[in-house]
Amino acid sequence: MTPAFHPGEIWRDTNGLPINAHGGGIVRHDGVYYWFGEHKVEGEAGNLAQVGVHAYSSTDLLTWKDEGIALAVEDDPLSEIARGCILERPKVIHNPRTGKFVMWFHLEIAGAGYSSARCGVAVADVATGPYTYLKSVRPNARHWPQNVAPQFKQPLNADERACVKELVLPGGPVQNYPTDLLYRRDFENGQMSRDMTLFVDDDGTAYHLAASEDNGTLHLSRLSDDFLDTTGEYVRLFPGHFNEAPALMKRRGIYFLITSGCTGWTPNPARLFKARTIWGPWAELGNPCVGTDAQKESTFESQSTYLLPVAGKPDAYVFLADRWRPENAIDGRYVWLPIQFREDQPVIAWQDSWDLGFFDPA
Ligand code: GAL
Repeated sequence: MTPAFHPGEIWRDTNGLPINAHGGGIVRHDGVYYWFGEHKVEGEAGNLAQVGVHAYSSTDLLTWKDEGIALAVEDDPLSEIARGCILERPKVIHNPRTGKFVMWFHLEIAGAGYSSARCGVAVADVATGPYTYLKSVRPNARHWPQNVAPQFKQPLNADERACVKELVLPGGPVQNYPTDLLYRRDFENGQMSRDMTLFVDDDGTAYHLAASEDNGTLHLSRLSDDFLDTTGEYVRLFPGHFNEAPALMKRRGIYFLITSGCTGWTPNPARLFKARTIWGPWAELGNPCVGTDAQKESTFESQSTYLLPVAGKPDAYVFLADRWRPENAIDGRYVWLPIQFREDQPVIAWQDSWDLGFFDPA
């Protein structure tokens, strides 16, 4: 059988084992693609990090070699990345200035549910690691977002603090979501950060984009030159619109962002946005998926995780998504689909099977 992508089916590595790299992302270095994702185990226990971040390598995006665990959870229960923490959506970027590979991921300290809302940062000298865990951060502590009016650059007053304490914020849409309170609540100790991605622009500047403010608002932050910190330069995107699973790409100078809504492991319709400068303004373009109602409503039963430019093929980008199986986490599937452009707008359609020839001119 000629190798091809078979979205949603079990995908085996070169040892014949199912690839175990969920919520993943890809970095390309010296002609090799490296795929990093969450290593899941069987059952519901697999929704917590029992192993760490798994790495694979490939030159053709179809055949993947197991490169082992790039960042392992730790046995010490006092470690921030102790076994049983939540370690999700790892993304790796390469820094040409320092020569390091830098990994960021969504970290929830073990035993605290999703309340920590932190970013973990780890670093390695070679792509496949092993990565050294450096720290966790809540981004942009003591910095105000660039796109809020001066009167909102104020910590909460006593009345507002009392009001925020009363709120029940489950991480999904709520009535009367307080659009101007939560980033002010978190000014001192840093902004919440859950589902996240990294993006390196053509000029080498790196950005972190994450669901913040109890998932109601995305925060886009510029990273420091060594990619190990946020800089305090950040904007709030779509306050109160509850976007997560963010994935960014750039085509012909235009930035495109795909997100999902916030419904946990259950799929929902994807959302597409575009901007001419990364800081915005961003325009919402609707659902990029085409097909049956069921396919559009569920994003082909999946949730975005990464938008991958294919090397050597102009205008070739792949939509990478996860079909989660929270009752048996290890059985989560990968849905990779080619992105098509209709009037310069990304469109995603189901394919039972496809290969990179899809992108070649007819
Ligand atoms: C999803 C999120 C996943 C995971 C899950 C837990 O909304 O995209 O990465 O955090 O919730 O319920």
